[in-house]
This record gives sequence, structure tokens and C-alpha cells, in this order.
Amino acid sequence: MKTPRAFYAPLAIGAPAPFRDLPVRLERMIHFVPPHIEKMRAKVPDLIAQVDVVLGNLEDAIPADAKVAARHGFIEMAKANDFGKTGLWTRVNCLNSPWFLDDLLEIIPAVGDKLDVVMLPKVEGPWDIHYLDQLLAQLEARAGLSRPILIHAILETAEGVKNVEAIATASPRMHGMSLGPADLAASRGMKTTRVGGGHPDYAVLADAGHDGAPRSAYQQDLWHYTVAKMVDACLSAGLKPFYGPFGDFSDPAACEAQFRNAFLMGCLGAWSLHPTQIEIAKQVFSPDPAEVAFARKILDAMPDGSGAVMIDRKMQDDATWKQAKVIVDLARVVASRDPRLAEVYGL
Ligand code: GLV
Ligand code: MG
Repeated sequence: MKTPRAFYAPLAIGAPAPFRDLPVRLERMIHFVPPHIEKMRAKVPDLIAQVDVVLGNLEDAIPADAKVAARHGFIEMAKANDFGKTGLWTRVNCLNSPWFLDDLLEIIPAVGDKLDVVMLPKVEGPWDIHYLDQLLAQLEARAGLSRPILIHAILETAEGVKNVEAIATASPRMHGMSLGPADLAASRGMKTTRVGGGHPDYAVLADAGHDGAPRSAYQQDLWHYTVAKMVDACLSAGLKPFYGPFGDFSDPAACEAQFRNAFLMGCLGAWSLHPTQIEIAKQVFSPDPAEVAFARKILDAMPDGSGAVMIDRKMQDDATWKQAKVIVDLARVVASRDPRLAEVYGL
């Protein structure tokens, strides 16, 4: 293990120093764009105004014969637009693919100054992060970049979940991670073809009664364990956890439920793969105005964060003050980007 001082040293001569704290950014939805399709690239200026993060996807869902076009399309869309406060990310191909190296070798010199985050798929352990960390430092140094590019890992293999804590603490370049339910289901041998969400067969059956009445089955959450494990690994390391893709575009209610469970458990955003999912993510990952109002009451009643008070017949103390602060701090970040919600929150 590295010493604390070495942990924060740049990994190449001339590379920018790693961040000590993550930049404060609103990232309620990471919106996926297939950059090889010109019609999709043409929508990027509108998307920038609508979403928190635009991501050019180079990995799965991009056909093998369009990989190079997607990489070049991403460079083109990065050059052609001013992203302002909207994040610019790319999901590169996985480390053992024939495309990963050229993804990095071409993108960083061309548009590294605009790129906030590289999303790395199929991360198995800290060794994958160390490799990308070193490569990014070399490329940043060569390109003369002044700001470090962050790494976001996709948690989508059984091995990755086993090593999630080591992945989270592998580098100061780590931004956070997203749960990838499709690859993870395959890697674990789960018997589902769904991309996220519940499954009707994953249920607990109520006890049989004496009257022979039909027994109720209560559907359970297939992803609870993984989300919880990812949230603890991320938050203990100062990183941001995200839920990934929800594949059934015809079921917005189930998408919303999946996003909401993730939000309540600590996640800060999710992927949007379809325009309708942008609004769902915006709604879910912006704290509820009533909750913000109540949290502000708690903070106002305990200005120094200590003691005990009753508000609306509910006990408040130092710990609930911290809970309230989580909500109000997030609301402030949302308000700084969203004038409508700033007004609703009164912030
Ligand atoms: C995302 O990449 C997934 O595999 O779910
Ligand atoms: Mg995947």
C-alpha cells in the first residue's frame, strides 16, 4: 500500500496533481449518447441544457464495426460544443478489448481539456484502476493538461463486487461508481434477462393460512445487497455511488421505483438511456421539497448542530441534524443549477 504522501503524488512528471476533494457537481443523470450516429450528435447542444452529464458511449451497444466511428464522433462532439456546467464523460471500451488503448490515446490529446470523467467498464479490482490511473497521468502530462481527469468504475462483475472497497480506494482519481445490472447478472449467473428492476419470481411467499386462501407473494429487491455494498464502499472513501441502466423503456413506473430505491439508499444519480428517463432522474434525484422544508426546520432549530429539540412531535438531535444537512446540502447543489427548484426550495 502507498504511503499517504505518495498517494497524492502525480503519477507522471508534468501531470496535474490529483484532487484532494471531488469537485462539487450535480450529476442526477448521466445521459448516454451513441456518438457514431450523426443525428444523435446533432442533439447534443439541446441535451447540454437539459441534463447534468453528457456521456459519449464507446462500449457495449456500439457495434464492433462502429467503434472507431464512435470514438471519432465523440471527439467531434466534444470539440463542437461548450458544455458549461454540464459534465462531459466518456465510457471507453474495456481494458482487454482491441479498442481501449486507442480510445485513450486519441481522446485525451484531442479533447482531454474538456473531459471530466472516464467511465471504465467491467472493473475487476484495484489493478484495473492503477493501470488507467498511470496511463491517464502520462497522457495528461504529454497533452499539458492542468486539470486531472477522473475515473468512474462500473461495478458489473462478481469479482468487482468482491473487490469493491479496494476499487474505491485505489486512486485519488476515483470519482465514483455505477451499478451495471446487465453485465453483473451475467457474471454472477443470475437467471434474469432484465436490465435492472425487480423480477416477479424473486419473492417471499406469505405463510399458508388455515382457511386455504391464496397466499400472497411479496416481490423483493434483487439489487439491494449490491447497492448497499457499493454505497458503503463509495461513501466511506468519499466517492459518489450511482445506479446504472434501466432497460425497460415501456415501464417508467418501475424505472422510477428503481431510481428511488437507489436514491434513498445513498446514490446520487442514475444513467438515462432514453429521453423519458431524463425527467424521471431529475424528479427522483432532486430532494423532495417537503423533505427539504422539514430538514431546513431542523437546521434552523439547532444552529450549532447539537442538543435535542422536538419538531412536529419528532425528536431531533445531533444525528438527525446531520441527516437534515445531507438533504439541504444536496438541495443547495440542485438549486445552484435549477432556478425553478431554487424557488421551490426557497434557497
Ligand atoms: C451496464 O453496463 C450493465 O451492464 O448493466
Ligand atoms: Mg455493462
